[in-house]
Amino acid sequence: MVEQATALQTGGGPPGALSFYYGHPDPAAFPLAELRAAVDATWQRHFPTALLYGPEQGSPLLLDILCQKMRHDEGLKLSPEQVFIAAGASQGLDLICRLWARPGDAVLVEAPSYHEAIALLRDYPVRLAAVPLDDEGLIVDALAERLHALRAEGTPVAFLYTIPTFQNPSGVTMSAARRQALVTLAQTEKLWLVEDDVYRDLCYEGTVPPSLFELAGGQSVLRLGSFSKTLAPGLRLGWVLAEPPAIARLADSGLHRSAGGANPFTAYVVAEFCRAGHLEPHVARLVARYRARRDAMLEALAATMPPGVTWTRPRGGFFVWLTLPEPLTAREVLAAAEARGITFPPGEPFFAEGGGERHIRLPFSYVDTPDIFRGMDILGQAIRAVSR
Ligand SMILES: Cc1ncc(COP(=O)(O)O)c(C=O)c1O
Repeated sequence: MVEQATALQTGGGPPGALSFYYGHPDPAAFPLAELRAAVDATWQRHFPTALLYGPEQGSPLLLDILCQKMRHDEGLKLSPEQVFIAAGASQGLDLICRLWARPGDAVLVEAPSYHEAIALLRDYPVRLAAVPLDDEGLIVDALAERLHALRAEGTPVAFLYTIPTFQNPSGVTMSAARRQALVTLAQTEKLWLVEDDVYRDLCYEGTVPPSLFELAGGQSVLRLGSFSKTLAPGLRLGWVLAEPPAIARLADSGLHRSAGGANPFTAYVVAEFCRAGHLEPHVARLVARYRARRDAMLEALAATMPPGVTWTRPRGGFFVWLTLPEPLTAREVLAAAEARGITFPPGEPFFAEGGGERHIRLPFSYVDTPDIFRGMDILGQAIRAVSR
């Protein structure tokens, strides 16, 4: 399905438009030779196991490897009972929503949040309640207010879905102080936290604050991870970290009782890839590549944006988030930008309860540096054109 892959890669907009649409990894950076060797190793070492239904919790080899990774990267001492393999972070979130939320519950999300997670949560009969964030991440006082208001009107809250690190779409990272305040509030209020941490490994400067999962000692936190951003999204492989009873609940779901563990074959391939020592050097190469693109985008924006336009400065991940001055809207800029040959997503879909008209999400992950400069130049022209 090469055509479909190409269409996805370029995103919406007029044919041939330079796309700043999706938050995709760069296919040119996929470690093809190493993955192929890992497929061969799987064939040699794990036949026929890798082609059978696997244990509900996921491939034991990969569970061990993820425990080692968390210990090495973050000093987390996990046992395999605290890890669950999912068919990507999306499937992990889907399963969590199915099992943790009841019809009519509220699910709290950030404003803005990852638009496809909003779409996924909307598949369920839950009510989404949005809580704003600022440069330090989710505003915990606003969360407390919203939580109390929902409970006061008799609406149970199933969980908060948050992306504290290199957030999609804002690029913001929640400060260590906010994380601590959030965990304290969640523990006092008995609020489950679903921490989407898929960008943690893609850090371009400084260090990543401890996860909510770590700060809470695992208590009432479900942390999502993924190989989509660091290896390849087509592998459909991610994980959930949680306390053993929560992991057992995921593994005992009807889905996994029927299907067995998620994607056993690719789980073995990724386990063999990691076992051969490829993951760390590969992520180091990715970080260098994406850091250069992040720097190019920030440089291009500084050179081309008219006065009044502001943008975030992400320390990792894939996205810069741009805010237009009033009275401009992203949709009118989009029309002018598409007429000049670029496309991007305007802000509204990232807001579960409205807003976002003046925002533009700009991924820098899969557009190469010359195109980043060309694209931002066109964006600057489009903003000037509609400002007149
Ligand atoms: C915050 C966030 N979570 C989850 C995903 C999807 O992850 P996966 O491919 O593991 O389902 C994305 C992809 O854009 C994302 O940005």
